[in-house]
Amino acid sequence: MEEARRHTLTLVEPLTEEQLNRVYDPILSPLIWDLGHIANFEELWLVQRIGGREPLRGDLGELYDAIEQPRKIRGELPILKADEVRPYMEQVRERTLEVLDEIELDPEDPVLADGFVYEMLLAHEHQHNETMLQLLQMVEAYEPARVDGSPAEEPVAEGPEMVMVEGGSHEIGARDVGFAYDNERPRHSVELEPFLIDRTPVTNAAYAAYLEDTGAEPPMYWRRDGEAWVRTVMGRTEVVEPEQPVVHVSWHEADAFARWAGKRLPTEPEWEAAANGASRERANLDQLSFGCSKAGAYADAASDCGAVQMLGDVWEWTSSDFTAYPGFRAFPYPEYSEVFFGDTYKVLRGGAWATRRDVIRTSFRNWDLPIRRQIFSGIRCARDESEAPGLS
Ligand SMILES: [Fe+2]
Repeated sequence: MEEARRHTLTLVEPLTEEQLNRVYDPILSPLIWDLGHIANFEELWLVQRIGGREPLRGDLGELYDAIEQPRKIRGELPILKADEVRPYMEQVRERTLEVLDEIELDPEDPVLADGFVYEMLLAHEHQHNETMLQLLQMVEAYEPARVDGSPAEEPVAEGPEMVMVEGGSHEIGARDVGFAYDNERPRHSVELEPFLIDRTPVTNAAYAAYLEDTGAEPPMYWRRDGEAWVRTVMGRTEVVEPEQPVVHVSWHEADAFARWAGKRLPTEPEWEAAANGASRERANLDQLSFGCSKAGAYADAASDCGAVQMLGDVWEWTSSDFTAYPGFRAFPYPEYSEVFFGDTYKVLRGGAWATRRDVIRTSFRNWDLPIRRQIFSGIRCARDESEAPGLS
């Protein structure tokens, strides 16, 4: 928990109070809301619910309720400002540690068994770090306090455009042991026809060729500069790197690209079957690379079917709606997953460079509106095996 907090504070370290409080885009909370919300969620679960204590300030629970307060109004709420939020975060943490000292991780209580609620808290802070990075893309002249690794220097391996995934019965979802969200369970079998999947995520070069051919709108942050495509993030404008995966595309754009390429988006079970055997330890994750590696990197860590970068670099849109697995049970609260089930949201898989490593698993399901592109979303296409013009 200390590591997670250090990481959160590292991300916001270079920012002024004005930048922390500012609403950059109505679809993203001001960073100051995220900070207060991270601490308030900790207070709610670990201090109030587990510790049975009163909140430090009773009105904060409502202000930081993500369901009650839609993102577009969060900048107008009387939330804690930059000078108030850090003391609040520290006071909550002090009480959290007092509770942790006293508590028994009762194996009979599903919220406490194996420390579930502590894992949930960690995952929550990690996941807010990614939302914060979405906003940081828009912050002029943001200079990270810490940069780790140079993912672009990973050697890139050559290989076929697509790899084959065997048909038959595939096990999908998280096993019963270990931390996972309710929506990843129960693990179940799915029958799949054999199919092909792109070995790497779709590159900027391929996406630029599609734009050239169709005149479609470019991804978020791109614009034309003469003959070249350039992108501006964190206040810096750079020529789009052709070999890196395309990022910041909506589901509609991903779907249109796939059809243009004579392919389709994979279904969620297809994606998970193709990701089987991928390791999060060898993947561009954990945020501090501040960008993608080239498509085809981490080839020594390919999944069982031979696909690379199934984890890390960019989230990959699937064709599937976010729905419940057969036998789903909401835990620990319906507002995590259940209220989002239906045909409104599309599932993304695999995590991005902006995802903390401990968040991601091959069974992890992310979901968002099909119009969204401020997220770190990219594309990997699939194709029915029967439609393949032969693997050459
Ligand atoms: Fe949250």
